[in-house]
Amino acid sequence: MSTTRGRFITFEGGEGAGKSTQVRKLVAALQARGIETVATREPGGSPNAEALREALLAGLVAPLGPAAEALVFSAARIDHLDKLIRPALARGAFVVCDRFADSTRAYQGASGKLADSFIDGLEAITVGDTQPDLTLILDLPVEEGLARASKRRGGGEVDRFEAEDVSFHRALRQSFLAIAAAHPERCVVIDATQPMDIVAAGIWRAVEQRLLERTQA
Ligand code: TYD
Repeated sequence: MSTTRGRFITFEGGEGAGKSTQVRKLVAALQARGIETVATREPGGSPNAEALREALLAGLVAPLGPAAEALVFSAARIDHLDKLIRPALARGAFVVCDRFADSTRAYQGASGKLADSFIDGLEAITVGDTQPDLTLILDLPVEEGLARASKRRGGGEVDRFEAEDVSFHRALRQSFLAIAAAHPERCVVIDATQPMDIVAAGIWRAVEQRLLERTQA
């Protein structure tokens, strides 16, 4: 068993960016290298957090406002970190997570009603020093993302966040790009308008350069 801490990789981006497909591909590529890799997602990833996910995505917390939503996403995150992410990293596994704390900053922050200091404080309490080693931000124009998300949904109902208006989604995109600019040491922006395999190759390049060469050199 490895005694070094594993690596923590998160995927971020707006609606319809293709994150779940890319998470699956990256997990398969890491496992093919013989690296123990745990795939997970937020909100959710542990039984308690999955229960909170249902309430959040059903819009049960939305009437309480963005501060309350940020608190409930963070409550789910605390459990996810304690039960799944930290134990996996401690035994040397890689963890690949579909959304993490940057989504709280971008989505709940996109309302424009939360002070940066509120989100900073919440993140410090929730995440502490379990910051991602690498964050892959899948970026694409809002209209294209929403069209993809609607196609994927077929005739199904829009969820709590897809239902927000275009200006919300524009603010969201800008917020993810601002996070990437503020944290170049851990963030890589990937053009998600490219074909799926090209996106996957860009992701693999980032993982190799930033994590594997450093870890296994
Ligand atoms: P999900 O169906 O997993 O969407 P996606 O495929 O876009 O990841 O639903 C998660 C939704 O929750 C998504 O719209 C983003 C939102 N979200 C927040 O608003 N804040 C958060 O902290 C997280 C983790 C997700």
